[in-house]
Amino acid sequence: MFEDLCFPVLVAPMAGGPTTPELVAAVVEAGGSGFLAAGYLKAGALDDRIERTRALTNGRFGVNLFVPGAESTEDLSGYVRRIEAEAERYGTEPGHPHWDDDDYRAKLDLVASQRLPFVSFTFDLPSPHDVARLHEAGSKVIVTVTNPVEAVQAAVAGADALCVQGFEAGAHRGLFADDPRDPAGGATFGLLALLRLVSAEVDLPLIAAGGLVHGADIAAVLTAGAVAAQLGTAFLRADEAGTQPVHRQALADAGRATEFTRAFSGRPARGLVNRFLTENSGFAPAAYPQIHHLTRPVRAAASTAGDPEAMNLWAGQTYPLATSGPAAGIIARLREQARAAAGQVKF
Ligand SMILES: Cc1cc2nc3c(=O)[nH]c(=O)nc-3n(C[C@H](O)[C@H](O)[C@H](O)COP(=O)(O)O)c2cc1C
Repeated sequence: MFEDLCFPVLVAPMAGGPTTPELVAAVVEAGGSGFLAAGYLKAGALDDRIERTRALTNGRFGVNLFVPGAESTEDLSGYVRRIEAEAERYGTEPGHPHWDDDDYRAKLDLVASQRLPFVSFTFDLPSPHDVARLHEAGSKVIVTVTNPVEAVQAAVAGADALCVQGFEAGAHRGLFADDPRDPAGGATFGLLALLRLVSAEVDLPLIAAGGLVHGADIAAVLTAGAVAAQLGTAFLRADEAGTQPVHRQALADAGRATEFTRAFSGRPARGLVNRFLTENSGFAPAAYPQIHHLTRPVRAAASTAGDPEAMNLWAGQTYPLATSGPAAGIIARLREQARAAAGQVKF
């Protein structure tokens, strides 16, 4: 699937700003590949981004979609009151905590018509009908999994490859069902353990994701049988990324721990610990995307005020080692490190 790449590194889809056509195109031009993030975008905006990326590179890239889940039945009233207080603090109003499908059907129609080489899904399985449609359009279907049970389900659903997401990963866990009683969001497997367990269950190409920040990490997961490595946090400080300045600065300062939280979106995600996360994580219901919509104005106001304490500062565990600079430079460094690491192994 990625045999044609000079270096099997994929820039992860990073919805909410960090992914730009410039970032994806720069990684493709440097010998890797990657995904535009469709999450939170309307189909028209996604169409624009596909076109802009194609204008910047003739190489292959994919699109990533959030699969909508069922509407949560959790009682949101207590959390709404907490966010009202947060909104007052930042001089704004809370958002309306509504469910929506993130324009999923329209975006699926679009990606099928665009005949992209690969389309990846997170948060659940695409339906068999949608998998068949994408296959007809010539697209390979990739499903994000966080445990061996999900991997088997994805294989049965017709996935061509799996993105295996270890618990080190930044931002949302791709888990299919969010158990409200579990603060971390399901059994949490480290990446190497998960690669091994998944490859014992299914015979599909595996893309490794979670905490990969050095070329030696990429050599390690390729040695462990992955066909490619997917890196998100390693590119958050790239020049071409759309990461907000406050987020960039918090990453560069490297002074915070990371933790899972539902406080910002209603789905477990790994981010830098800040005041909002500390004060609200224990109260946040498992209700995505309602909580995402509810907290949005507070996050936006904090960002405008340059205040990192109420923003979702997504980051993987190894974020202190991520570097700034052009994406091509990051790829060149990773490649050199991967070669050196692979050459050092003697048994
Ligand atoms: C800021 C940010 C946004 C992300 N958004 C998405 C997304 O839209 N879709 C998706 O499948 N994964 C998303 N991810 C998760 C990545 O696909 C990947 O699992 C993760 O970045 C790997 O861990 P790392 O960040 O330590 O490299 C995001 C990650 C980050 C850091």
